[in-house]
Amino acid sequence: MIERRFSISFTEFDRSSELSGPDQELMQKAVEATSKAYAPYSTFHVGAAVRLAGGMIYTGSNQENSAYPSGICAERVAIFSASSQRPGETIEAVAIAAHTDSFELFNPVTPCGSCRQVMAEYQNLSGKPIRIIMKGMTEKVWLVEGVENLLPLMFQADKLKK
Ligand code: THU
Repeated sequence: MIERRFSISFTEFDRSSELSGPDQELMQKAVEATSKAYAPYSTFHVGAAVRLAGGMIYTGSNQENSAYPSGICAERVAIFSASSQRPGETIEAVAIAAHTDSFELFNPVTPCGSCRQVMAEYQNLSGKPIRIIMKGMTEKVWLVEGVENLLPLMFQADKLKK
């Protein structure tokens, strides 16, 4: 028996102005998208913005439903929107922001498991690491280079073949 270990890493910024210009713009779009969330059940408003290799930006917000599992996260709305309008184009970066009136969100919001798996699919397709940039209600920002840093031991399409 052997124990295998690996580590994941991410960068923390004290404020979003420390990001590169394009990443600041992307985060700004994610923050703006939080105002378009339909989140009457959780009152947790999430916005996401996806930048493609060609420079186009697609945004999304969480869309809830009275039948709770029918709702969908902001990240998947933005990613599926980008992929359905520009199929096959490499996703460079995804910015995610959240706010709620119910409590203070000190740490950045991190994507749920399903959204990580969806990001993994598109990263594997392009072979290029997706940068994921996350923010809550403070200026603090977390940045991850590559979905493998969010989803170690991820399931990939090659597992479906012999
Ligand atoms: N949510 C997102 O949209 N993205 C995340 O990264 C975390 C969770 C949404 C789903 C649901 O509408 C609400 O936030 C509470 O879970």
